Amino acid sequence: MDLHELRTARLRLTRPTATDAAGVFAILGDPRTVEHNPSDRLEDHGEAAELVARWVRHWEEHGFGYWCVRESGSDRIIGYAGVKWMQIHERPVLNLVYRFVPEVWGRGFATEAASAVVSRALHEMPAESVVARVRPDNLASQNVAVKVGLQRDATMDCQGEDGLDWAFTSPEIH
Ligand SMILES: CC(C)(COP(=O)(O)OP(=O)(O)OC[C@H]1O[C@@H](n2cnc3c(N)ncnc32)[C@H](O)[C@@H]1OP(=O)(O)O)[C@@H](O)C(=O)NCCC(=O)NCCS
Repeated sequence: MDLHELRTARLRLTRPTATDAAGVFAILGDPRTVEHNPSDRLEDHGEAAELVARWVRHWEEHGFGYWCVRESGSDRIIGYAGVKWMQIHERPVLNLVYRFVPEVWGRGFATEAASAVVSRALHEMPAESVVARVRPDNLASQNVAVKVGLQRDATMDCQGEDGLDWAFTSPEIH
């Protein structure tokens, strides 16, 4: 299995490298993509480079992590999606994240990418739980979480950097 790339009908997901920092900054430097999570906003290219370096380290340590997402046949990064370890209520879980540039919203890309990410994570780590943490007013993200098979689970709600996060979890969690 190629650990460096994941393909869906329309998308190519690649394991991040340092050269992806500019594309990641184009996503996280845009205030529209962090409207619900302002603490995620990046101020400059240097912050993007540090963030991508952390993503690369997670991959090196764990063999999975966030993917950069491009449309098949294009070099432009349009989003990122993936899972990373985190603790919620002292329990290790796979935290699912997805974020795309506004120009491509509404085309089903987040659902398509997140669905591939969740399938792969649960296939490779069937004993683990996937959790998406979503701000209560972020309807688009909640819709994506439900469409990829996660269920609203208030017992895993937690306080995030930007306030209360609602939890959506894989059904196997309990
Ligand atoms: C959340 C986000 C990833 C969704 O990306 P997307 O590619 O537009 O999502 P999809 O096209 O796959 O849409 C998924 C579902 O949500 C619905 N949806 C999309 N935008 C919506 C909105 N603003 N309000 C309500 N529902 C919305 C879609 O209609 C779709 O449901 P449907 O197929 O039943 O119609 C994108 O808006 C984004 O990057 N937002 C900023 C970052 C973010 O908030 N990430 C999540 C942090 S928890």
